[in-house]
Amino acid sequence: MGFYSKYILPSFINLACKINSITKQREKVIPLAHGNILEIGVGSGLNLPFYDKNKISKLTAIDPSEDLWKKVAVDLKKLPFDFEFIKASAEELPFADKSFDTIVVTYSLCTIPDANKALIEMRRVLKKDGVLIFCEHGKAPDKNVLLVQQFVNPVWKQMAGGCNLHRNIPEILENSGFKIQDIKKMYIPGWRPACYNYWGTATAI
Ligand SMILES: C[S@@+](CC[C@H](N)C(=O)[O-])C[C@H]1O[C@@H](n2cnc3c(N)ncnc32)[C@H](O)[C@@H]1O
Repeated sequence: MGFYSKYILPSFINLACKINSITKQREKVIPLAHGNILEIGVGSGLNLPFYDKNKISKLTAIDPSEDLWKKVAVDLKKLPFDFEFIKASAEELPFADKSFDTIVVTYSLCTIPDANKALIEMRRVLKKDGVLIFCEHGKAPDKNVLLVQQFVNPVWKQMAGGCNLHRNIPEILENSGFKIQDIKKMYIPGWRPACYNYWGTATAI
């Protein structure tokens, strides 16, 4: 791992994920999580303050990047719910089938190398009546913005730790065996090629 990936990239991702427009998105989706929860690609833990402690039995969070996790700003000992961090990749989840009531994934389906495999794993560990809560950026509906996304993506991906600007989030969810129950889509404030957001809930088919 190079100097950029180890020392610069984690700070860059942490700062980029802290902007107001993204924080507002977190406020919309994270309080919906309940029961035994798994968060995929927790990053620097920016969702942690938004969980509703009254609805949680336990929160388990995974991420392959310990460098990003080290940037966590909340005091984990003071979290008002049972919490565990595990270093793992979403494509190979170290959990038994049907373990979780809720799976949360925010701004990570853009980056996970094999998002399809990761979602199939999420479906495996989700209980039958469980719910996937997602909030992601992805493919823009406007031709001009999509062209920019396609043009910039090869460089962006290198600079932004593997993040893709134009993944088709609903299509990836549906191709991985999820049924979307509720979805909202819009540009949030910021650079439009990175700001077309999709958020909502899905259940396993
Ligand atoms: C843009 S950050 C988002 C972090 C966090 N979810 C948030 O909302 O702030 C993308 C995250 O995906 C994680 N990631 C990359 N590859 C992954 C994989 N194979 N499995 C799980 N997470 C992965 C990265 O380490 C990083 O934490």
